[in-house]
Amino acid sequence: MKPACGKGSEMQATIVAAEPLAARAGLQILEQGGNAVDAAVTVGFALAVTFPEAGNIGGGGFLVGDVGRARGTDDGQPICLDFREKAPLKADRDLYVRAAEAGIEKASLLGHLAAAVPGSVAGLLDALDRWGSLPRSRVLAPAIGLASRGFPMTASRHRRLSSKGTRGQMTLFEETARIFYPDGEPVAAGEIFKQPDLARTLQRIADNGREGFYGGETADHILVEMKRGGGLIAIEDLESYRAVVREPVQFELNGVEVLTMPAPSSGGICLEQMLRILSRFPLEEFGAGSTDTIHLLAESMRRSFADRNHFLGDPDFVSIPTEKLLSEERIEAMAKSIDLKKSTPSSAITPAGATEKEETTHYSILDRHGNAVAVTTTLNGSFGSKVVVPGTGFLLNNEMDDFTARPGEPNLFGLVQGEANAVEPGKRPLSSMTPTVVIGSGGEVRGVLGTPGGPTIITNVLQVFLGLYRHNLSPEDAVSQPKVHHQSLPDHLYHEEGIAKETLMALKDRGHQLKRRGKIGDFQLISVAPGGAVRGVSDPRGGGTTATKVKIQRN
Ligand code: DON
Repeated sequence: MKPACGKGSEMQATIVAAEPLAARAGLQILEQGGNAVDAAVTVGFALAVTFPEAGNIGGGGFLVGDVGRARGTDDGQPICLDFREKAPLKADRDLYVRAAEAGIEKASLLGHLAAAVPGSVAGLLDALDRWGSLPRSRVLAPAIGLASRGFPMTASRHRRLSSKGTRGQMTLFEETARIFYPDGEPVAAGEIFKQPDLARTLQRIADNGREGFYGGETADHILVEMKRGGGLIAIEDLESYRAVVREPVQFELNGVEVLTMPAPSSGGICLEQMLRILSRFPLEEFGAGSTDTIHLLAESMRRSFADRNHFLGDPDFVSIPTEKLLSEERIEAMAKSIDLKKSTPSSAITPAGATEKEETTHYSILDRHGNAVAVTTTLNGSFGSKVVVPGTGFLLNNEMDDFTARPGEPNLFGLVQGEANAVEPGKRPLSSMTPTVVIGSGGEVRGVLGTPGGPTIITNVLQVFLGLYRHNLSPEDAVSQPKVHHQSLPDHLYHEEGIAKETLMALKDRGHQLKRRGKIGDFQLISVAPGGAVRGVSDPRGGGTTATKVKIQRN
């Protein structure tokens, strides 16, 4: 196949993100001559202002990309950066068991003990240093402007902040209440929401780099708040936090090459396992959304998640048998163990997880040279731990809940995990975030994929990939098709609405325990057709947008 684009021709610069102001901020950076990484850094900081449920400087994330092309003439190089939060050095494996015994039920989810050491600022600045081209002050300027000048409160955020559950938890913390409920109520839809403290924190980062967050005034504020609220993050944690460059999970399948996230995300390993299991079955013949296809999806998902929950954790702490998990023998055995007509029960049934609203966010970027960046970032739950550090304007994550916080018990996402993901000082909790870039056989970018959704992230990326590269769906249909999800435990086949009744009955007959659930994910896809046409699709399930450059400005 001839490279359709990338080499010698310019591409339609495109950003797809869950929040329009942040997407446009990134596009401006591309229009000013910034590259995909510059734009990713801008979108990341802007989302911390405009999408406080999940956009963050108090959380963490992952970046996968294929960059380094200049003026459409070169091949890209895979890049992969881990800026996942870390457990504080004072944390230990029984932290949340003790908290539960002391009557604090939600310690890994709500309040100061839930917060792991934030990684986003280190990660975004590190990405800029390594692969960006613009100065820090330029890429941070849009976020600072949005925080200080403010922007209109959306109706959906207003609704969310007004909901009983969110309000009840957010207002437990005085500073969070002061910012998000001035005069006791959320800022009305359409009114301007300003965040002056956050603007000053972002300015300190622009002025002083990582020291503007992990040292000086910002660090002082964090430490004071940790002491006041009984949290564990200490100065050593802040000073020692570093993002880590990782080798992406990389494999070829269906005529494309996939670059995706390795541990401490489970996304890459599971995605590869599931895709390779499914490559042994004629899905094209079965058709997208058919009983046979959904059955096979569920069976490959349940098998892969069993491995995930048992073997995977932070590779800096546990040894992951990656070679074994991805060996031909293993994939073959997993595929062979699937009964085409009957579901295999997962070994035990566990109660479903908590019902708290979850939130993460993903953005996909393609610059005009054909460089691609995929970033998924999170505070874990919606608005994280709900703790705003006084004086800084930012929310801390509740990522500690992604660990096996209490052995044998399901976490926020109903995941029952093992020893490999136990809490240890300085360890990163296992993630499911799966930012993914797909490369065509000519070296050109064909897809930039990702979504929020906890464990459904992996299975959602799987289904969009299959939609695009096996079922030949349009990018819009690949994203909007009804999604299913299985995570081994609990032994449920979750599904969105929209699957035909007869299909659901046939799946039930094969032994699947069906569970209808609400919207799965908020996919942000860029798809590049073999002819070079670029399509951005922001999931109709969310409120995001595609920002794309109409006019090409040359440097
Ligand atoms: O890293 C993870 O897998 C989770 N903390 C992601 C949380 C998430 O996607 C919530 N969003 N809907």
